[in-house]
Amino acid sequence: MPRTTIHVCSQCGCQSAQWHGQCPECSQWNTLVEERIAASRAQGARRARQPRGGAASPAGEPRSAPVALADVGAAPVRRMSTGIGELDRVLGGGLVPGSLVLLGGSPGIGKSTLTNMVLGHLQQTGHRTLYVSGEESAEQVRLRAERLGPAPAHPIEVGASRAVNHALQVPVLAETDLDAVLDTLCAHKPQVCVIDSVQTLRAADLSGAPGSVGQVREVAARIMELAKAQGIAVILVGHVTKEGALAGPRVLEHLVDCVLQFEGERERPYRELRALKNRFGSTNEAGLFEMRSGGLAEVLDASARFVAEATRAPGSVVLAAMEGSRPLLVEVQALVAPSELEQPRRVVSGIDRNRLALVLAILGRHGRVGFESRPPRDVFVNVVGGVRVDEPGCDLAIALAVASASRGVPVSGSPRACFGELGLTGELRWVGHPERRLQEAAKHGLTEVIAPAGSGSAACEAPTLRAALAAALPTGPPEGRTRAAPALAAVG
Ligand code: TYD
Ligand code: MG
Repeated sequence: MPRTTIHVCSQCGCQSAQWHGQCPECSQWNTLVEERIAASRAQGARRARQPRGGAASPAGEPRSAPVALADVGAAPVRRMSTGIGELDRVLGGGLVPGSLVLLGGSPGIGKSTLTNMVLGHLQQTGHRTLYVSGEESAEQVRLRAERLGPAPAHPIEVGASRAVNHALQVPVLAETDLDAVLDTLCAHKPQVCVIDSVQTLRAADLSGAPGSVGQVREVAARIMELAKAQGIAVILVGHVTKEGALAGPRVLEHLVDCVLQFEGERERPYRELRALKNRFGSTNEAGLFEMRSGGLAEVLDASARFVAEATRAPGSVVLAAMEGSRPLLVEVQALVAPSELEQPRRVVSGIDRNRLALVLAILGRHGRVGFESRPPRDVFVNVVGGVRVDEPGCDLAIALAVASASRGVPVSGSPRACFGELGLTGELRWVGHPERRLQEAAKHGLTEVIAPAGSGSAACEAPTLRAALAAALPTGPPEGRTRAAPALAAVG
């Protein structure tokens, strides 16, 4: 039988009939990816036949000609509402027909639950839907759907007005063969389709295992071809670990129109949905959900919850953050503890580890809260609720939380919040939307907000880190002296 696939190095393009762990040309490891020969050979042959100027029609005219952008007809983008406000906002207003959305997240985070709910809502609003499950049997999908709404009537009583669980009306295809899935898509012609997950489908003409880079690429490319031709909005579900260790779905990011990341901690109920790439909207937006017994619920009063739960103990400070276009108040907590390690720990949850390193360096240099001296001390920083804060405005909150934990004194004064970016020279830098942050804090009873200069008259403005520390922690021991042991006793 003639060979139908070839292994191509993604670094140097070297081709090999066999798979090698190390590329025979460039010696890179794990770079050989299986591809179909048919496509690449046909392409090569076509190019070879072409005259230099490109492909030509029989009349000698080029087959495709460039068009001035002003002459390009751009129809307004129609969108389908998913029925979940937070998801619609992150998508930029709803699902776009013919678009491919990659929904990534670690296993068990709630991707199947979210997509089941979306299809249920769309089915309810009269759209044709299809749920392709490569991971679970149709029975398992049904069991989940049953949790998402009222129980169905068994048997359906004629004339009885029972609430309908629309998630149960969604057609399901439990299949892992790509050709079978594509045939069903052609026959069923759904408007919205979920593929759960892209790592479980298998193209029969590639020998690689499902989930391998070659398979994932091929599966996504062929689904995309059909989706664009037929105007189907497709949500590809992909398992991605927090570290992004699983290569699979990451290789699709350039291919798809929108990449959504579903984050959170399995042990905690809060889940955050972020757009990492969006051809039809902003990538700033994030949506907050809570996993409940009846599926995912939108969290619209997140600030109120986090402020009410804030401990205000030493090491706790409220941050007035921006989640895309929306202000959000979150509690940042820090703990400073003697370390038994030569290299003390720097453990973060909800912020970037490098940001903590930078803030600690600035605190040492300009705030006289040092961590280089002996004995070594571990520093832990956590954004409460499993929320992730990815903006420079969180620097001051980290600094105040760590300084407060280190000194063992709570942030003083009336209920307080803060925001601001720290410059390398110890200045507090202006960050976006100060007025919206201040409004959100005032709405939740935080009357004093330590903020950079230029933030507005309602703020307690501090031009430098030192000024902010003096305002927030005036009762601490003299700067330069740290009382780790008694401070920790006070923390309890
Ligand atoms: P799931 O959507 O299967 O996760 P993923 O597809 O990302 O792997 O959901 C995972 C968890 O959610 C599972 O542990 C059970 C829990 N869950 C609820 O708490 N409530 C519910 O209504 C549902 C459907 C699931
Ligand atoms: Mg799943």
